[in-house]
Amino acid sequence: MKKKLLLTAVVLVVIVVTLFLLADRATAPTRESSEQTEQGSSEPAEIIEQSPDELGFDMNKYSIEEPGSIWWIVNRERPLPEGYVPPDLTVPDVRLRLNASAEQMQFRQIALPALKEMFVAAQADGVELVFGSGYRSEALQRQFYESYVARDGQAAADRYSARPGTSEHQTGLAVDVTSPNLACHLEICFENTPQGQWVADNAHIYGFIIRYLEGKENITGYQYEPWHLRYVGKELAAELHQTGQTMEEFFNVVAYRPRVLAMARLGSCSCCC
Ligand code: DAL
Ligand code: ZN
Repeated sequence: MKKKLLLTAVVLVVIVVTLFLLADRATAPTRESSEQTEQGSSEPAEIIEQSPDELGFDMNKYSIEEPGSIWWIVNRERPLPEGYVPPDLTVPDVRLRLNASAEQMQFRQIALPALKEMFVAAQADGVELVFGSGYRSEALQRQFYESYVARDGQAAADRYSARPGTSEHQTGLAVDVTSPNLACHLEICFENTPQGQWVADNAHIYGFIIRYLEGKENITGYQYEPWHLRYVGKELAAELHQTGQTMEEFFNVVAYRPRVLAMARLGSCSCCC
């Protein structure tokens, strides 16, 4: 009887130990599965698009909100503070379209070395750039805008001229460039002039971008202006040139809401877009 009990106990212990070992094996990862966990899932890797800041570009180096910042974004939906005047307006030492006493023949001192460098580099390449229109006060922009509205109607004027208080020219960081004989001055065909081709290829090297790009009117709010350059500094200009983005796209901000503009007839400005 004792022997029988002992035998039963041994059999029970063997069964319990066997069950325990089997259960442990079932939950333990195999070598294969643990390798997959360490090296990544066996699913195809997800492709993650990296944003500029993930790629090492410091998106916060300058403010896009702060008046006076070289990355300040001014557009239809982001007007300047009322009566804003840049603190450091100066007449550039480059070839000017108008007499040096004209208000438009000024630019911010902070951007003058880059402007001069660009004009000198163009000249070295045999291309004479002319400073067509730089800083414009709110009052001067009003004169231009109202004259365009009178000529072409408001809807058309809104496609190529900023309303007073919303023009980048008022920042003192935007310039319309032209050529000595004013060929295609403020016209789309400027892009085919030596000056237009040169700035399209080289302006970014000196920290300038073509602000109103072709095909981006629904983003910037303005038709293509191959002559309108905006100083943003070399880093950002290089980035925008490479990606083909507008400031609005790059910083993901709104430029304008289409409203009536989609219905407007194309106009062109005659002096100062
Ligand atoms: N032509 C540009 C949009 C301006 O008037 O500022
Ligand atoms: Zn302009």
